[in-house]
This record gives sequence, C-alpha cells and structure tokens, in this order.
Amino acid sequence: MSANAVWLNTKLATMVGEGYGKIDDGAIAVDQGRIAWLGSRGDLPAEYRKLPRHDCGGALITPGLIDCHTHLVYAGNRAAEFEQRLQGARYEDIARAGGGIQSTVTATRAASEDELLAQSAKRLSAMIAEGVTTIEIKSGYGLDLANELKILRTARRLAAHSSVEISTTFLGAHALPPEFAGRADDYIAEVCDHMLPSIAAEALADAVDAFCENIAFTPAQTARVFDAAKRFGLPVKLHADQLSDSSGAALAAQYGALSADHLECTSAESVRAMAQAGTVAVLLPGAYYFLRETRLPPIAELRAQRVPIAISTDCNPGTSPCTSLLLMLNMACTLFRMTPAEALAGVTRNAALALGLNDRGQLVAGMRADFALWDVRHPAELSYAFGANPCVARVFAGDRDD
Ligand code: NIG
Ligand code: FE
Repeated sequence: MSANAVWLNTKLATMVGEGYGKIDDGAIAVDQGRIAWLGSRGDLPAEYRKLPRHDCGGALITPGLIDCHTHLVYAGNRAAEFEQRLQGARYEDIARAGGGIQSTVTATRAASEDELLAQSAKRLSAMIAEGVTTIEIKSGYGLDLANELKILRTARRLAAHSSVEISTTFLGAHALPPEFAGRADDYIAEVCDHMLPSIAAEALADAVDAFCENIAFTPAQTARVFDAAKRFGLPVKLHADQLSDSSGAALAAQYGALSADHLECTSAESVRAMAQAGTVAVLLPGAYYFLRETRLPPIAELRAQRVPIAISTDCNPGTSPCTSLLLMLNMACTLFRMTPAEALAGVTRNAALALGLNDRGQLVAGMRADFALWDVRHPAELSYAFGANPCVARVFAGDRDD
C-alpha cells in the first residue's frame, strides 16, 4: 500500500472542464492510493499538513497518461514490409498476399510465452518512461485459442510485473488465419462459440474488439462478434472505417461500443450515431502517418457533435511501430490540427472514457493517485516538442517510481 503524502510546489493540469483545468501553485494529498484532496497550496486543509511532503520543484503534474489502443504484445517486426511499402506496395496488397497481420501471427505463434513477455516488456518500459500509468492491450496475433490465450496471459503477466494498469481486449476477429482460408464465417463461429467462451471463463479479456474492413471482416460478421460479447457481458469497441467506409463506426454505436477507432473514412452520419450512443472516437495519428494516409478523420464533425476524442499510439508492428504517446500528442496537433489541450485530454480524460474507466484520467479527489511530473512550464509544451521526454517522475496509485 502506498505511503500517504502531500505533493507540493507544482502546477496542476487537472484536465477538469474544457481546457487544462490549471491550478498554478497547487498541492495534492494522497491517501491510500487515491487523491484525497487537491487545490491551491494555500488552501491545503490542516489534516494534510502533517503528512510527509514531496517538493515537486515547480514541475507540472498531469493525470497519468492512458494509452487506450495498443497491440503491444507481439513477436518480431515488419521492417521488411516497411521497405516494400516504400517501394510502392500498398498495406492492403501486402495483407492480401499473406503478409501483414498474418506475418506477425506466424512470428507470435512461434514465440514461447516467455519470449513474448520479454519482447513486449521492452515496449511497455518505453511507454511507462513517458508517464503512462494505464495501457490497453489487444490480442489478435494468435488467431487460435491457444495463441490468443498466450497473448492475453502475457498482457496480464506484464501488469503483474510493472507499476501500470493493463486493460485487455480480445481481438480474435483481427484477420482470417490461414487454416480458415475461404471460410470467414466458420472462423467467426470459432471466435464466438469457442475462443470467446474460454477467454471469458478465465477472465482474460476486459473488452472485445474486431477489425471491420474489406481486408478483414464484414459488418455482419462484426455484429456476430458483438452479439457474442454481449452474451458474456463484455463491452465492445471497433477498428472502424480505417481504409474504407463500411459504416463501422455506426455499427459500433448501435452496439453502444465504448469506442470506435481510426475513423479516417467515417461519414458525418456515423459520427452523429456515435454522439447519440456516447461512443468515444479514438484517433491514431501514428497509423495515419506510417501508412501515409491523406484522408483525415472527421475532426470538425466530431467536435461539432461533441464526441469525446481520445488519442493513442496503436502500438503495433504493421501500421504504428511506436511506443511514444508523447509523439502522438504532437502528431494529433500537426497532422489532425487538434489543439494541445484537446490532445492532452485525448490521452487522459477521454482515453479513460474509451476504456470505460471512471476512476482516472483527471486529477479529482476520489480518483486514483496516478499522475506524471513534467519538466515543462506549460502543458502545451507536451504537444509542442517531439522526440523529447520531459517526464521527471511518475506516481502510480500513490507510489513514486524510483
Ligand atoms: O490498428 N487495423 C488493424 N489492426 C492494426 C494493424 C495491425 C497490423 O498491421 O499488424 C491497426 O492499424
Ligand atoms: Fe489497432
């Protein structure tokens, strides 16, 4: 259990309200891993004045960052495919020729659980070093029960070994495995009637995702996966409208999905459906950049409909081999024209919403004491600089990393 303490001599970006929710000379009192009180230092209640003090030296404190969409557990890499794409091959063509996701499936199936853990732990450490305290990790590179279980167990083991919370997502419907070639409906039946029940029985998934796309699964197949998830009481989310518009975001909204992710090709009509359903938009500027996409997600429409926008790395070997959530802040601004305040909300408050977690993502009394200390004067600097890491400390459930 964490030590109760007060954090002083800090500027706070609470992320409460529309902007940063700044408090200039702030203080945070932590009690049993939760924020007990926060506000201006001068208002610190007497009961907290006797607690041990951490002098933050003027550092900015934000909520711990939340990476709400990653495929962090995989083996190998796809540098060769990157070279092919630079010579003109398209992502879809490589996938149709049996490369792409399938090549990572081959490498991941071949890796032992310990190898997978070791390779993934390096990526996790890089994320943690940038102030991340909660990460979502999807399966989807196993595509059979044993290997999907191996990935999800690895994600759970990573959480047990690190000071980070990991939310797991079953993405069995990510691609069609070769043993089901030409039998996509049979594979969906395998996902719904065999894989998901076993994964749910071991409580290895906190949510269910699918890849709804012409190189992956149809809306009707996706709906079958969502129906199965409902039977097990699991929330759903969707890789939607990344390469083409199949009204995936509207389908996600129809199922009350936590989030619809990517959205480069999403229509205004689907955005309205998301707004009505309270489905969060998760934008992934790393994948947009790495695939050299030119069609932007419908940012203006998302804003107009007041759909919460989250930002994430999409950390994966094919479309976003990246562990830097800070770089995504910069890309959200430069590529998507989001404001630095919107970008920071995207990796804190709105990322928590995308995971259905209401105990984090803002600095508010009662929430988890997960926060990050930054050597910057203003929160906009977190989006402004790229390739730098101004994180000076990270606090997880009240405990400061050594
Ligand atoms: O989020 N779009 C589908 N899934 C991943 C990419 C997976 C891969 O290429 O390995 C994504 O972009
Ligand atoms: Fe993804």
